[in-house]
Amino acid sequence: MNKKIFIIMNCIFLISGCQEKQLQQESITPPYYKPELEKRYQEYKSKNLDLTKEEIITHVNIGLDQPFYTNTKETDVSNPITVLTNKYRYLSESYIPKNLESIDKNFSNGTKQLVKEARIAFERMATDASKEGYTIRAISAYRSYSYQQVLYQKYVLQDGVENADTYSARAGFSEHQTGLVVDIDNKKNDFNNFETTKEFTWMIENAHHYGFILRYPKGKEKITGYQYESWHYRYVGKEIAEDIKKQNITFDEYYIRYLQK
Ligand code: DAL
Ligand code: ZN
Repeated sequence: MNKKIFIIMNCIFLISGCQEKQLQQESITPPYYKPELEKRYQEYKSKNLDLTKEEIITHVNIGLDQPFYTNTKETDVSNPITVLTNKYRYLSESYIPKNLESIDKNFSNGTKQLVKEARIAFERMATDASKEGYTIRAISAYRSYSYQQVLYQKYVLQDGVENADTYSARAGFSEHQTGLVVDIDNKKNDFNNFETTKEFTWMIENAHHYGFILRYPKGKEKITGYQYESWHYRYVGKEIAEDIKKQNITFDEYYIRYLQK
């Protein structure tokens, strides 16, 4: 065989060998795989052929293979900054976060409270935004279990359970009860139209640097269980917020992959 051809063939052989290895690596089982859920993974996979192995495992671990508000369990609050609430994980009626503090009135509409660390980060963010000519104001922050109960009931009477469930959390299941969430407006536009404001663009570009994430993004409704909310921001700390932003995943997914013990 011609020497050149021999070398080329060897190269092709080596490259294809490398590719095979990469594919093998891709199919490595992630650390959050739970053998006891294997049957559910298989069932979910058969109904969602477009999803990757990672996505299937993540979704089933969240609980998404079963209807919202089924198989619910009390969420882990041992780290009060990374608490996850969604339609499968709830806070007890008696859960009140420690270190709730009032947000500076310059950046809130009436008395609104956040956990100290989130309050400091929020005020820093709103201050920096104001220096650049943007108005960020808290219109809702910590909400107690009983307040959320009243709010949700009001929406149910107004819109019916099915509709209310798309935008309002049942008592115990609201992230607002963690004291780490803030709904914002720019003082001028209704919060429902926050997406159309320059403040929204500023938040999308900057919120993660202060530890906040857009918790219910557009296009992720099937994962979060809620319609898109351009005004609802969750404090998770700078490191996690930046990682979530970079990976373009929801907090539900991030929690399963990196935070759950
Ligand atoms: N609007 C959000 C989902 C809540 O009620 O907590
Ligand atoms: Zn909210």
